[in-house]
Amino acid sequence: MSDTHVNATGSRAGKRILLGVGAGIAAYKAIELVRLFTKAGHEVRVVPTRDALRFVGEPTWAALSRQPVTTEVWSDVDQVAHVQLGQRADLIVIAPATANLIAKAAHGIADDLLTTSLLTSRCPLLFAPAMHAEMWTHPATRANVATLRERGAIVVDPANGSLTNEDSGPGRLPDPQELFQVARRLLNDGTAATDLTGRHVVISAGGTRELLDPLRFIGNRSSGRQGYALARTAIARGARVTLVAANVELPAPAGASVLQVSSTEELRKAVLAATEGSGPTAAEPADAVVMAAAVADFHPDYQDRKIKKSDGMPPPVNLHLNPDILAELGTRRLPGQVIVGFAAETHDLMAGAAAKLTRKGCDFLVANRVGPNLTYGSPDNEGFLLSQDGSRIDIPLGSKEDLSDVVWDMVVKRFAELSARTATSPE
Ligand code: CTP
Repeated sequence: MSDTHVNATGSRAGKRILLGVGAGIAAYKAIELVRLFTKAGHEVRVVPTRDALRFVGEPTWAALSRQPVTTEVWSDVDQVAHVQLGQRADLIVIAPATANLIAKAAHGIADDLLTTSLLTSRCPLLFAPAMHAEMWTHPATRANVATLRERGAIVVDPANGSLTNEDSGPGRLPDPQELFQVARRLLNDGTAATDLTGRHVVISAGGTRELLDPLRFIGNRSSGRQGYALARTAIARGARVTLVAANVELPAPAGASVLQVSSTEELRKAVLAATEGSGPTAAEPADAVVMAAAVADFHPDYQDRKIKKSDGMPPPVNLHLNPDILAELGTRRLPGQVIVGFAAETHDLMAGAAAKLTRKGCDFLVANRVGPNLTYGSPDNEGFLLSQDGSRIDIPLGSKEDLSDVVWDMVVKRFAELSARTATSPE
């Protein structure tokens, strides 16, 4: 991996990014990635495949990256570009990664500049597949993706949505801004901690709403930012992520399978199914579940027509207790599963959080102070992480991504403890 170089602006922040562009209609979205990388001070070398140039031409890439653009190993032979580009890269991003490119990368086929660069590189690799749903779900592509992930590459699952031809399904290139966030983490980590590779994690985010009538609801101020940061960081560490999102208005984190829900009961069903491996997103049970959602504790009786003021009096509202999903996860826990909760408190933070940790039976609980301008909706967070063994970690004010990394560090540690215990326990 190369040293940090001095970029055109004189800043030392820049890294060398090789952006490989496959021949897919989503190539135009990679234009935004070049813009984001260069704006962040990085040097971007765009290496499209020959057919990718049919979608976006060489002048566009060259003008945006301000770097020469080549697809063939026969260009710049004196520079030995097919060896150098890969060797010098700090990160290779392939977006869009077609089924063909993924297959070649998995099998070490090197028949153009991009695929030879993949073989000569030793830096983190980020693949952002985009293709028709049938191609993505084909056993050949599944096997190739599994091979790349086993080797430590980050392959983000494509987003669900409409594809060309009025078809829809998994296959869309994720939002470029979200891909940029994954890439940014891989660059910052350098060694790219992929300690969640092979793990399926379920994360709930946002705040549930309980309908009073077709128009009104009881809800809360949770924005979903903490849950989305947990998803982003888990993906960058190699996990497969099911994100159960309650009323969140944020772009889907690149690579996460997002299930949209609204009420507590919908959230409960989606989280329990995903945790058991019977949901629509993953056939395997969860290795870890993080309940970051702010769940409504009560629901009112639902009126199917708009509630009217009668005689100028407010209507009575009967509230019923909702099930506690986190406690239920604790009682249904599968062997080896790690469960994390969050505690939102306005007062008596430590006492409230410690009581919840015991009552809900989770492995860890993140305690947050919440208020009108605290935590909810903010990009930052702070708090404490309490463990079942009685230990406590102070998490200073920082980004929600930073807090997420503390959570995943502890989850990874717990996985190791649990597997050591299984290995030494008698048959
Ligand atoms: N939680 C849950 N189901 C509920 C309520 C909360 O799974 N019905 C989860 C939240 O997702 C969070 C944790 O439990 O991970 C704590 O939530 P919090 O709102 O802080 O606590 P409550 O259980 O609602 O307790 P209290 O009302 O006493 O604060």
